[in-house]
Amino acid sequence: MNKKQSISTLTALAVATTMAFGANSTGLKDNMPFKLGVAVSNAQINDIANGRKTQALDLIKRNFNQVVAENAMKDQPLQPIEGHFAFDAADAFVDWSNKNGMKTMGHVLLWHSQLPGWFTRGDNGKLCSREKLLDRMENHIKTVVTHFKGRVAGWDVVNEAVEGDGSYRRSDFYKILGEEFIDYAFKFAHEADPDCELWYNDYGNESAKKNETIASIVRRLKSKGMRIDGVGLQTHIRIDSPSIESYENAINLFVAEGVKVAITEMDISVLPSAWGLTAEVSTKVEYREKLNPWPDGNLPPEVDKQLGERYAEWFRMFRRHAASIDRVTVWGLSDSSSWLNDFPVPGRTDYPLLVTRDMKLKPWTKSL
Ligand code: XIL
Repeated sequence: MNKKQSISTLTALAVATTMAFGANSTGLKDNMPFKLGVAVSNAQINDIANGRKTQALDLIKRNFNQVVAENAMKDQPLQPIEGHFAFDAADAFVDWSNKNGMKTMGHVLLWHSQLPGWFTRGDNGKLCSREKLLDRMENHIKTVVTHFKGRVAGWDVVNEAVEGDGSYRRSDFYKILGEEFIDYAFKFAHEADPDCELWYNDYGNESAKKNETIASIVRRLKSKGMRIDGVGLQTHIRIDSPSIESYENAINLFVAEGVKVAITEMDISVLPSAWGLTAEVSTKVEYREKLNPWPDGNLPPEVDKQLGERYAEWFRMFRRHAASIDRVTVWGLSDSSSWLNDFPVPGRTDYPLLVTRDMKLKPWTKSL
């Protein structure tokens, strides 16, 4: 066979392979040096559970090779009433992602938010005892981790335990157990499934002080001989801040502690920051209009271009650190399903993700 013939044989083989896996099986994921992930919404999980075939699910399968449930595996949905676990939706999701060969991550075992009220409180509404909380943590974590054993690759064990100034968040967990609540959570998870990856996850990693405290948690767990695989950086960022360098510093810091990192919840808001204004915006119309400049679902091309360039810059940085980055996950599939349309101001129209409202990959995703 001459060179020309062997190339055409290869081409034929590639075409045949593509056809065998579906004509559209190559997507964004195939151009990445790490896993490319997406958070799957409750509505999408509902479609999965009901066996519906949708454009969204097709887009996910084609473009991503890692998934996480945006809400369905948090404490509130999994154990709404003490002792009553509800696994149906999460099971449908995890079975679907396993069947489709996507790395499946669990989010989240212990978080102060979307936590059912009973978890940290006694009958009198006051904080429960140390023993009671440890008991509930052990029961929730072990039941959930055991249930998904072998079907999820890893868990966010603890989410958002550190504040921007580097202090520990005064959550109920912290008030009752102090910072060691984190150690207990990792211990229970590891006892339930020794093979499971265990992650600490947080936002706001532009803060060097916050990162120092997270690094100290990694050191503390390791010095006790405990398992921690990595630190997740949520990466809910904006079109104009923070700096890429601040996140690159965070990655270097955690990697120096001997763990992996992951970009776990990336989105880039293009809307004006509403922090500090949230009380007023609910009442003042002029603030609302200023804070929601493109309400009709059309982002001006120059802003879209800027967004694409910002995404590309961040992905270039991620690529430089590919050896340490387990996955880059975006927090939702399309702009229409992003939580940022409702947070921190309800009823806005944001454009933070890789897929448009009419379910097309944004053209600049080719450059990521
Ligand atoms: C968000 C979801 O996207 C929303 O749908 C839900 O109403 C609130 O939680 N940090 C996290 C995620 O770790 O679990 C949050 O997800 C976003 C911030």
